[in-house]
Amino acid sequence: MELGHLFTGEPQADAPGAIGRARLYDTFSAVVFAGRRRRTFGALVDLSGAQPGDRVLDVGCGPGYLTALAARAVSPGGEAVGIDPSAPMINRARRVRGSANCSFELGKAEALAAPDESFDVVVSSLALHHVPEPGRATAVREMFRVLRPGGRIVLADYHPSHGHFGGRLVGAAMRHNPVERIAPMIRDAGFAAVTDGDLPPFLYYVRAIRPETRVQQ
Ligand SMILES: C[S@@+](CC[C@H](N)C(=O)[O-])C[C@H]1O[C@@H](n2cnc3c(N)ncnc32)[C@H](O)[C@@H]1O
Repeated sequence: MELGHLFTGEPQADAPGAIGRARLYDTFSAVVFAGRRRRTFGALVDLSGAQPGDRVLDVGCGPGYLTALAARAVSPGGEAVGIDPSAPMINRARRVRGSANCSFELGKAEALAAPDESFDVVVSSLALHHVPEPGRATAVREMFRVLRPGGRIVLADYHPSHGHFGGRLVGAAMRHNPVERIAPMIRDAGFAAVTDGDLPPFLYYVRAIRPETRVQQ
């Protein structure tokens, strides 16, 4: 059995990549980052440029760890919203990390409920590979749609690191995760100023900006 199947729980027909075992996943995430979860997710928030007053959307938020850090960064005056198709994840996120400016809703990356141009920042970590193809490009276009012009995106996913024990542990479950396709998808969706990098222990990220005016293709 693959590691990923441990977390799946009850299969969800409308979202085959949804993770049902929220508490187990949250504990695993704390362990697999080997004391670096706070630093790694904090770095993602820094990369997003989230500032007090901003509205942040965390797509595929899981138990809401990144969402809660983003909520802190945008306080006072801002808020962070996490969305995920898994009810157990949303319930755990609300219970453990919900606050006055940090909320969680059921939702899928491929069909975001948010209105056009309603967020300053979109973040997403370790979630894109859970979206079934061909929905991944649609998901990135949805992130573009809900960002205001000038808004920023940081999308991070697993990048194999054979040296790290977490990398070896997670590697087998994550082999269908072509991170090299993320930056092209982000460009195709219309984003500009696309840059990428690695974030130890095993994240690859792409960040970009929704241009003030749409570039003619
Ligand atoms: C590996 S977890 C990552 C959770 C969290 N972002 C983190 O970094 O710990 C992947 C998450 O993506 C969610 N997911 C699955 N299918 C999705 C979809 N179509 N749209 C958005 N999220 C999805 C899963 O339910 C799960 O919570």
